[in-house]
Amino acid sequence: MLPMIAYLSFLLFLLFLLAGMTIYTTFLIYSSIKGAPYVPTRQKKILRILENAHLKKGGLFVELGCGDGRVVRLAVKKYYVRGVGIDINPLLVIWSRILSRGRATFIRQNVYNTDFSKADYLYIFLMPKMVEKLLPKLKKSIRNGTLIISHGFKIDGLKKYLAKTVRDLPFSTFYYRLK
Ligand SMILES: C[S@@+](CC[C@H](N)C(=O)[O-])C[C@H]1O[C@@H](n2cnc3c(N)ncnc32)[C@H](O)[C@@H]1O
Repeated sequence: MLPMIAYLSFLLFLLFLLAGMTIYTTFLIYSSIKGAPYVPTRQKKILRILENAHLKKGGLFVELGCGDGRVVRLAVKKYYVRGVGIDINPLLVIWSRILSRGRATFIRQNVYNTDFSKADYLYIFLMPKMVEKLLPKLKKSIRNGTLIISHGFKIDGLKKYLAKTVRDLPFSTFYYRLK
């Protein structure tokens, strides 16, 4: 009897593991199809990126394509900004909410439908094609003085606003101050 229970428990465990992996992989593919794969940034790199942004307490920090929310969470924790993370992947949004324990807001939304006009800091780590598509809205709705932080890719359409580049591998970070 005991070996049978152990065998069934193991089978059940395998089933859950397989189901979990399938759901996770499906949503990773979903992220890619929607525009950008999920590529998390390491904590050490995020610290360096944020340090160079000189965030001010109380400012509104919005991240488009926030993944598990690690950038927003760190910005809120270290610099006391108000954090909002946007992502299309529902699993990542739920996970971000759990990890942030209410200290930041996470919304499941397509970045093309996001109102980021009130952002003081707009953080982007998305594929260049997505940013290109976002550019007209970005130029139209962003306020003067807003800092756009693009991790990974330059934004050609904002060339004249480039304020700083922090070089790193595999991705550099580009800071644009809109005037
Ligand atoms: C390169 S990851 C960035 C992860 C996070 N910023 C980090 O550095 O750890 C890109 C994120 O964009 C999300 N994404 C892709 N297409 C999107 C869309 N159309 N709208 C909103 N989020 C999207 C993906 O789900 C993924 O989490």
